[in-house]
Amino acid sequence: MDNDARSGTFITLEGPDGAGKSRQAAALAERLRGLGRDVVLTREPGGTTLGERIRALLLEISSDEHDPISDALLFSAARRRHVGEVIGPALERGAIVICDRYADSTLAYQGHGDGLPIDSLRELTEFATGGLWPVRTVLIDVSAAEGLTRRQMGAAMDMTRFEVADAHGMAFHERVRQGYLDLAAAEPQRWRVVDGAGSPDEVAQRIWSALADLVG
Ligand code: TYD
Repeated sequence: MDNDARSGTFITLEGPDGAGKSRQAAALAERLRGLGRDVVLTREPGGTTLGERIRALLLEISSDEHDPISDALLFSAARRRHVGEVIGPALERGAIVICDRYADSTLAYQGHGDGLPIDSLRELTEFATGGLWPVRTVLIDVSAAEGLTRRQMGAAMDMTRFEVADAHGMAFHERVRQGYLDLAAAEPQRWRVVDGAGSPDEVAQRIWSALADLVG
């Protein structure tokens, strides 16, 4: 199952916590719908009944019980269902799918952040998704400190265990950010790195420019 076999356009947004992905994903979907495009906006982990339950379970687990391999397997199980139930069917019918986080989050968080081997995580991802990768991934890049500050100024109750600074430490978030930059540098044909600094409208315009050749 590769992207070429489908008629839709699979786009993912990635970035450290607090980069503003969710807001940007919604703005992008709205802009494309305004142009009359068929758009499916979805997010990971979630989007399916099993996915939402896995998400709740992952967020419930306390940081002392945290085991990166279990996390990678759980995120991958949710992803499998997400591909089968939501992303795959939407691509088959020719839609633009915008997904807020996808497999690169596992590589960045469980791989670069938690130190699991990237090759094993890639194999796991291939197995879970049948090899479905996005045609374009936009990294909204903010420094780890800026991302966490933004999140902490927002709804603190809403913070996940991946975001609480004491649970993982700033060094973890620095590794995640650098991991994303490394992933982007290794595959420049798929990735576009966008500066997450500035107003939401400014960032939205950068994202649009990063996608214009595909969807403009
Ligand atoms: P969520 O509140 O959805 O984060 P955000 O709004 O920042 O996207 O929480 C998801 C958390 O899970 C986030 O901190 C990133 C982490 N995560 C992983 O560690 N691995 C993964 O494969 C995915 C999809 C997310």
